[in-house]
Amino acid sequence: MSNTGLEGVVVAQTSLSAINGEKGELIYVGYDIDDLARNTTFEEVAYLLWNLRLPNRAELDELERRLAAEYNVGTEIIELLRALPKNSDSMAALRTAVSALALYDPEANDNSDAANRRKAIRLTAKMPTIVAAFDRIRKGQEPIAPRADLATAANFLYMLNGEEANETRIRTMDVALVLHAEHGMNASTFAARVTAGTLSDMYSAVVGALGALKGPLHGGANMRVMESLRTIQESGQEPSAWVHDALGRGERVMGFGHRVYKATDPRATVLRELADQIMQGGEETRWLDLSDKVREAMGTEMEKKGKKIYPNVDFFSASVYTTLGIEMDLFTPIFAISRITGWTAHLFEQYANNRLIRPKADYSGPRGLKVEPIETR
Ligand code: ACO
Repeated sequence: MSNTGLEGVVVAQTSLSAINGEKGELIYVGYDIDDLARNTTFEEVAYLLWNLRLPNRAELDELERRLAAEYNVGTEIIELLRALPKNSDSMAALRTAVSALALYDPEANDNSDAANRRKAIRLTAKMPTIVAAFDRIRKGQEPIAPRADLATAANFLYMLNGEEANETRIRTMDVALVLHAEHGMNASTFAARVTAGTLSDMYSAVVGALGALKGPLHGGANMRVMESLRTIQESGQEPSAWVHDALGRGERVMGFGHRVYKATDPRATVLRELADQIMQGGEETRWLDLSDKVREAMGTEMEKKGKKIYPNVDFFSASVYTTLGIEMDLFTPIFAISRITGWTAHLFEQYANNRLIRPKADYSGPRGLKVEPIETR
């Protein structure tokens, strides 16, 4: 019997995260996501995933210093970004630049744990710089050099806009990065582990993960959520009528449903609260208001059908990022600049206890055919 989609199949042991899909719970290394989102920063979570414990002050300072020392990407990568077509897909651009990073890293093919830990820091430090530079270059602006005195979230917003963001915006971005850092054996993490399983290098594994994350059924969904919200607004239709019609046409409503969660994704709950805080800070509210209406309409429709389909992390991240003034097609790259910490932590585990990942396929094609000469085929 084949199991298309590998649902329920266990392919690895991990100490990194666990999901209780029925209860809507997520833990990273023993800590509830809600606790982490409220009480830690992205850098603390990176340390947690890489070392399986939270850092003390000195350890956090040291990690922040090491990340900041690696923020710069070098002129080769900036020139590469300048050479890309202006209308390049943002995830394809990030995937290309990350692949190129390997060519300038003398440790690229060193699979030792010590080298991999250095590469995890480099990738986590450089990916935000790549995304921000890509966005500015395609708009005809000069990329902005990273600032070593800013942490990841603040530095990313600074490099995008050329000015320091306010505290609420920085904290919102930081929490979004905490929420997206790790999520079990999701498709992109699996892609990364499959690549590392051949003892290929960490950059190749991350490039594979980026390719998987790009798809609309995974990381690409957050951008599709925003497309839907814009479509609803432009159509002038009531959100409830739009949802009803879309489901009637057999379409999926982006930002809902999950392979593992059969309750609300706890990350969506934190993001919704964060959205409230941004609104209190006087930001525009229309996208968040519209999101609430779509969520309500989906709830009603799914109840009628007796299905358990709830909002996932992408649903509110779309309106939160838009409220922060971030371009729609940067949502998935932002997912990647957070998830790089989870991917690399999984790669440490994979290399430490490696076995080639090689499942089977059930053959359903013909048998016993004989090759006919090409002239008579
Ligand atoms: N809208 C409408 N119906 C849905 C949705 C949705 N978003 N998601 C699932 N369903 C329905 C399916 O039509 C199916 O109904 P059926 O049993 O009557 O045929 C049922 O729910 C089960 O769906 P599956 O596709 O079997 O569930 P699967 O686990 O394979 O898919 C997935 C999960 C891909 C996330 C799916 O829910 C989906 O396509 N969602 C929209 C895309 C999205 O938001 N992706 C982001 C995921 S989270 C992340 O990557 C960070």
